[in-house]
Amino acid sequence: MNVLLLNGPNLNLLGEREPEIYGTTTLSQLESLVAERARELGVAVRAFQSNHEGALVDRLHEVRKWADGVIFNPGAYTHYSYSLRDAIVATRLSVVEVHLSDLTQREPWRRVSVIAEVAAHRIMGKGIAGYLEALEWLVAHPR
Ligand code: DQA
Repeated sequence: MNVLLLNGPNLNLLGEREPEIYGTTTLSQLESLVAERARELGVAVRAFQSNHEGALVDRLHEVRKWADGVIFNPGAYTHYSYSLRDAIVATRLSVVEVHLSDLTQREPWRRVSVIAEVAAHRIMGKGIAGYLEALEWLVAHPR
């Protein structure tokens, strides 16, 4: 099984960005943790982060024939990116939408996700553990 670990804008600053909300684990530590668990599960993982919407769309297109699933934290694009939503539909990728924080407990505008409807599964409010749960979910629900 092949999985893309995809992180959107501002997630490159994990560890220093609002640690009281997003925790102190850095993006590279997160990517290593997911890679480690993936190895145990026999899953190949590629990781990518971008602050640019088009770069995220491009990456979804690029992996569409390789990936069996995507662990995706779209960051703030969650709330308004129809191009990312369309890319998920267009590529037919099985996407688990992950958020470190619990969006239901934050500002009202964060409760809206244009991604949720096209995601295969959604995990939020579990911090870094949510990414590992997403990997396990993909393994348990092959397409
Ligand atoms: C986030 C929540 C988003 O609202 C925010 O813009 C992020 C991170 C999360 O992981 O909790 O960048 O996706």
